[in-house]
Amino acid sequence: MDYRKTVIDKLKEVDSIKDIDIESILEIPKDSSMGDFSFPCFRLASVFRKSPDAIANEIAAVIKTDLNIKKIEVVKGYLNFFINKSKMMEETFEKIFSLKERYGFSYIGEKKNVIVEFSSPNIAKPFHIGHLCSTVIGNSLANIYEALGYHVIKVNHLGDWGTQFGKLMVAYENWGDDEKLKEEPIKELLRIYVKFHDEAEENPSLEEQARYRFKLLEDGCEKETQLWEYFRTMSLKEFEKIYRRLNISFDSYAGEQFYSDKMPEVISLLEEKGLLVDSQNAKVVNLDDYDMPPCLIVKSDGASIYATRDIAAAIYRVRNYHFDKNLYIVGTPQALHFKQFFKVLELMGYPWSSDCRHIGFGLVKFKDKKLATRKGDVINLEEVLDESVARTLDIMKQSASEVDDYTKTSEIVGIGAIIFTFLKKTRERDLIFSWEDTLNFEGETGPYVQYSYSRAKSILRKANFNENTPYDCDYLKEEVEIDLLSKLSKFGEMILEAAKRDEPSVIARYAVNISQTFNSFYNANRVIVEDKNVMNARLNLVYAFSIVIKNALALLGIEVVEIM
Ligand code: ARG
Repeated sequence: MDYRKTVIDKLKEVDSIKDIDIESILEIPKDSSMGDFSFPCFRLASVFRKSPDAIANEIAAVIKTDLNIKKIEVVKGYLNFFINKSKMMEETFEKIFSLKERYGFSYIGEKKNVIVEFSSPNIAKPFHIGHLCSTVIGNSLANIYEALGYHVIKVNHLGDWGTQFGKLMVAYENWGDDEKLKEEPIKELLRIYVKFHDEAEENPSLEEQARYRFKLLEDGCEKETQLWEYFRTMSLKEFEKIYRRLNISFDSYAGEQFYSDKMPEVISLLEEKGLLVDSQNAKVVNLDDYDMPPCLIVKSDGASIYATRDIAAAIYRVRNYHFDKNLYIVGTPQALHFKQFFKVLELMGYPWSSDCRHIGFGLVKFKDKKLATRKGDVINLEEVLDESVARTLDIMKQSASEVDDYTKTSEIVGIGAIIFTFLKKTRERDLIFSWEDTLNFEGETGPYVQYSYSRAKSILRKANFNENTPYDCDYLKEEVEIDLLSKLSKFGEMILEAAKRDEPSVIARYAVNISQTFNSFYNANRVIVEDKNVMNARLNLVYAFSIVIKNALALLGIEVVEIM
């Protein structure tokens, strides 16, 4: 039963407001004593020239309660709806138990394609913490859209093209160490890249050589292409180690190089439409009218650049994937770049430019000094993951846990903790990273949520619970029990909300919220009790919780552990 829809349908029957966008106005009150849904009438006051209270009262006079809605109340300009709980409880149980790992999912995205472009590190450069944010946010959004029935295409838009490859070739031939390159590719590639710049200061002809080698690469010369492929393969190998640990895969690794031969078309399209103008030897699209600096398309030396490749990529994607949405998960510092090239697409006359969206996120700052690095060297992300796992192991060993496989459990919980930290905050806010906030087993963290799941499973094991254990909702009388089940009933709405705002944090916070309610429930009430009816109803509630929390964590890209 979709109660939100029931309430919306009821409101739509009221003549005076049937043309209003009820969906976007209807809220879920923070305090459940204000009902399950609330319709604020403040925005309508100016339309109807009446007080919010008067409007709410008029609507209340027309709407009737029914089997699903047991009470409607007007409080201070709000129209509050109270759902009939025992019917809600029964239906929630039925849905959760019949749908299980698909509970909360829907089909609104059926037959629609969504491109989620995420991670997108640069070849031969370190995979930095921003790439990690993009990776976990993008993966979670991909999961969320899949849960809504969309066909999702996960694209890793690798930064694998540009003049730096000419420099790398010259550097590799002069100072490269193959042994080291095989061991730690990124470190070695970075070392020779830095070396190149040091040496080039003394010997400017190196720059000349580098430009020439990149030109040869662009022209498809064999030797240069082979070297480029070697650098790319070695770098990817290292990136894939991180992807494997995070359990993340991509459908396409079409990066910037992939679009290098698709640029001339973009340039001639822009020329045809009269959008390209000369500016200081370069070609740009003027965006003065939109209060933006010009979008650079061709550089003075004839080389095409970042924005041009992005325009080519968007056109390629619409032709090949016919996307409904094309999402770019990239840090907010690049916001202007996206605004500019989306505007250029619009000026080119593409109506689908409005389906392209930049999904930005804030910076990560480190509270723990140890993670803050000296200028020049970068945080090794594998070491961050390792440290999280090691610290998790320590904490688990200190507590009297029943864990059977410490290695596996600490890997899942330690990695899950990092993912959760990145996903819990609203995307665009900065994150102040600290181990304390990441691994606190009692705070709003991944380990806390995972612990709640394993707690639930341990109760079910102790009681020898099986799926056929009958239940009667009337035995769930405690407020916290009703509250928990009512929260579980809203999981589907949360997924919709998360997609609407492209915010995995909606799911992460929901996971914390239901875990907290679950914890208050079993701290205040024993589950295994004398009264069979009460026990069975409570066991089923615990089971329902375990299903929902597992699904929620799966959407975030986090695995669960049965014993913790
Ligand atoms: N490789 C870029 C970087 O590391 C991110 C690419 C973002 N995606 C795009 N389509 N421009 O900054």
